[in-house]
Amino acid sequence: MALIDWSNDLGTKINSIDAQHKKLISLINNLHEAMKIGAGKAVTGQVIDELLDYTVTHFSNEEKLMTAHGYPGYAGHKKEHDEFTQKVKKLDEDYKAGKLAITIEIMRFLKDWLTTHIKGTDQKYSPFLLGKGVS
Ligand SMILES: [Fe+2]
Repeated sequence: MALIDWSNDLGTKINSIDAQHKKLISLINNLHEAMKIGAGKAVTGQVIDELLDYTVTHFSNEEKLMTAHGYPGYAGHKKEHDEFTQKVKKLDEDYKAGKLAITIEIMRFLKDWLTTHIKGTDQKYSPFLLGKGVS
């Protein structure tokens, strides 16, 4: 069973964003899978790298959309992104340094952060960006 299943309550009504969120979910699910099967350090490290890279890419896409259209909630939204990016970077570093193992608590943190962020912070920009013709 996957850690996170896509469901309509995660939708933003913006197709390009939903596709990116689905990819992020699948990367978190991959990390969960690596944890469950006890994958080695090289494989797990690579999965964390992919998650970090794609998190940065996706946040940057959202931030560009928000700034391009003058979204008023940008600053607070960006702050959430920055905090999460720092956490994933730290996770990556600590894992590679052998200071941390991927546990179910870490997986729950990633899942809860992403789903809470999408349902709260991301869904808030949806009517604004849709009104600007973003799809
Ligand atoms: Fe976001």
